[in-house]
Amino acid sequence: MQKIAVLGYGVVGSGTVEVFYKNKDNLEKKAGEELDIKYILDLRDFPDSPYADKFVKDFNVILNDPEVRVVTEVIGGIKPSYDFVKSSLLAGKSVVTSNKELVAKKGAELLKIAHDNHVNFFFEASVGGGIPIIKPIHACLEANEIDAIAGILNGTTNFILTKMFREGMSFDEALKIAQQLGYAERDPSADVEGADACRKICILASLAFGRHVYPENVHTEGITNVTLADVEYMDSFDAKIKLIGCARREENNEISIGVFPAVIKDESQLSGVSDVFNAILVRGDATGDVVFYGKGAGKLPTASAVVSDIVSAVKHNETSRSLGWSDSEQSFIRSFDEFTCANYVRLKAGNIDVTKAVIKALFGDVKYLSSNKKEENELAFVTDVMKEKDAVSALEKVSDGAEILGRIRVLDY
Ligand code: HSE
Repeated sequence: MQKIAVLGYGVVGSGTVEVFYKNKDNLEKKAGEELDIKYILDLRDFPDSPYADKFVKDFNVILNDPEVRVVTEVIGGIKPSYDFVKSSLLAGKSVVTSNKELVAKKGAELLKIAHDNHVNFFFEASVGGGIPIIKPIHACLEANEIDAIAGILNGTTNFILTKMFREGMSFDEALKIAQQLGYAERDPSADVEGADACRKICILASLAFGRHVYPENVHTEGITNVTLADVEYMDSFDAKIKLIGCARREENNEISIGVFPAVIKDESQLSGVSDVFNAILVRGDATGDVVFYGKGAGKLPTASAVVSDIVSAVKHNETSRSLGWSDSEQSFIRSFDEFTCANYVRLKAGNIDVTKAVIKALFGDVKYLSSNKKEENELAFVTDVMKEKDAVSALEKVSDGAEILGRIRVLDY
């Protein structure tokens, strides 16, 4: 009999316990032995819960119980999760977590501690909710060098963008529903301003490229500057606007990486991904593009990934050799100034003909877009691929009474 502890009984923790007991017989068959959750750690009381006898408030009860072989951390954040996870690994217990902030900030260190103590540190649920993506990258695509990863990595913002621009709902109302459905972070600014997607692309890039990418080194923008006016132009370009996290291999063993709203053409598999769904495109040098799709947030989808990691942790007595990366100084992350992509730009012209001449001088030949709802003297266009620093510099030089109203990068995934 393998005993498990669950740290945290919030949305993901309660979902984990629910899925575990619902599918226990099947899980035991897969694990090849009996399993049980011995403890649930939470500071709150749950006297009416069918699992009331399992609740403890003191982590040391779990840490000092040699029967507990797998600790499941679903509290989120760094404090106290980091201390709990680290001491569990040092005590020879495998750890399963859904905590993307923890993996993005401390993953290299925790993977090393797991390795040194012959246990596992698994985090399938940290990216993409219920979508299998961590194991596919390290255990199914290992024949490939990964050239690029790009994904819709945050369910809350994809849900908000869908509700706002497809159904005309206000931002605040859409966010409130996302919170009620258990999609949003405790502090939803982490969703809206891109930090959550940033943590996830850091985890994927670290895994794909073998060196830890720390979130503070990643250019990150959220969805707050995406307007209905921009969305209205997308029909004429056969495209959608999505919050994308992307990382790609560059020359000299460098990578480029960023999180920002992006124009995605309709022929891309990422373009039709709506509501809470996430999709992650992995471009391998042998396989070409592979896309993983599913619910990126929510109680049961996330619990699905947590519980399957629990079974994996029970089955694997030795540390996984393929799941991991090393700590690294960060000079392999290319400055975002060098990032290359096309750009969608919307501006208010002083005089249309003069401004078109200025645009041609600064950006060369561009493709003008149309919108039924365009304002008087408004122009929207898409440039050729150019470096970020050149795009910024050209936008600063737009003159003669013209005013930039919006700029969104265009990606070709
Ligand atoms: N707040 C996150 C999201 C939860 O909306 O994607 C899943 O990581």
